[in-house]
Amino acid sequence: MTDPLTPVLTANWAQEGSWTLPAYVDQGGYRALKHAVTLDPNDVMQMVKDSGLRGRGGAGFPTGMKWGFLPPLADKPRYLVVNADESEPGTCKDIPLMLASPHTLVEGVIISAYAIRARQAFIYVRGEVLHVIRRLQQAVSDAYAAGYIGKDILGSGYDLEVVVHAGAGAYICGEETALLDSLEGRRGQPRLRPPFPAVAGLYASPTVINNVESIASVPAIVANGPEWFSSMGTEKSKGHVIYSLSGHVERPGQYEGPLGITLRELLELAGGIRAGHELKFWTPGGSSTPMLTKEHLDVPLDYEGMMGVGSMLGTRALQMFDDTTCVVRAVLRWTEFYKHESCGKCTPCREGTWWLVQLLERLEHGDGSVDDLDTLLDLCDNIAGRSFCALADGAVAPIMSSLKHFRDEYVAHFEHGGCPFDPAAATLFE
Ligand code: NAI
Repeated sequence: MTDPLTPVLTANWAQEGSWTLPAYVDQGGYRALKHAVTLDPNDVMQMVKDSGLRGRGGAGFPTGMKWGFLPPLADKPRYLVVNADESEPGTCKDIPLMLASPHTLVEGVIISAYAIRARQAFIYVRGEVLHVIRRLQQAVSDAYAAGYIGKDILGSGYDLEVVVHAGAGAYICGEETALLDSLEGRRGQPRLRPPFPAVAGLYASPTVINNVESIASVPAIVANGPEWFSSMGTEKSKGHVIYSLSGHVERPGQYEGPLGITLRELLELAGGIRAGHELKFWTPGGSSTPMLTKEHLDVPLDYEGMMGVGSMLGTRALQMFDDTTCVVRAVLRWTEFYKHESCGKCTPCREGTWWLVQLLERLEHGDGSVDDLDTLLDLCDNIAGRSFCALADGAVAPIMSSLKHFRDEYVAHFEHGGCPFDPAAATLFE
């Protein structure tokens, strides 16, 4: 088998001191910036548009198109904000990227800010990852000292300030408008969209918000050209991405490959599901994306492929659960997370996630009934699409999809008068 991996962002992670400026420069780092500042900013934006890069934070919105939504330059400043508040359960790509190669992100920030003509950029990092914050701050300060950030960058006449801002550890602050509120010093809660941040974002000014991996992909696009990038992936899902494999897999970790690779291929590289067990269910993009089963091992991991089987690609957080896992317990655990993280601003999410936990607890303990399953689905119907932001949609995704694939297992709980799951048994219904 030819190696299906395409290491770009992860290429130098194993190199000693990969996070330092000399190591990054040694590997060709900041050459893309040197080239970019000789181009017209519009040409840099065009390169990103032509590459087909889509947002790596989960939604997959075309990055260049988002940049193109900025209104023409007016009196207001423009901002670039990097969403480094990675928190989706199972997602672990941005944090390792910032630890192993913070300069890839910093270089991406400078080039992207140049392309959109912003003079101020923020990197909003989740507050719990102190080690990442320190590493990023060091990288930004080294880039200032080297003349890559600050006044008259590389003699181009372009000025940029970059600030690393630590959040306080709320999942909701990964939602782009809640992030902006938090950055402005307020309690992080989502705003109604439209207006989208591109029109009215930070301090009501035009703002581009992109995920870490999206911005970190920009230097290689500028260095190698948009055709190089779009030669990887599928027709509508271009380029390389980081897949985070976790759970019941032999070799969990980050695997960088083209969009459109299959879970079967990735599992082969990761040593398969842990010895003696079978895959039961998995998530394509963390718990907010509908779960899939072993029937979906050969579905391309791209936006279209996942939509085609009623799921979403999301953050490519591939969490594996083998036959020792009680699906009801797993779903309850995730739902408790969403209930805890709901910001409380809108009723369907605040009250709905609370009710979901009550029902799931009853079912998991064997006290539920068929009526409860109907109520559960009815509640999900009344939450999805009726809240301020995507948090509540994410909360109902594992419930609805688990009922679709594993309804029998829910029923077995109340027929059994408790969780029938015997972790020592190979399968539930033997
Ligand atoms: P969305 O599809 O509403 O928006 C995506 C991006 O496109 C946003 O930046 C938005 O401002 C922009 N956009 C969309 N339409 C626009 C328009 N007409 N004009 C200008 N800009 C426009 O998705 P959303 O709610 O921002 O994100 C949801 C995704 O976040 C989910 O798919 C989920 O996978 C992901 N997620 C990621 C997490 C992480 O830790 N990385 C955590 C939780 C969710």
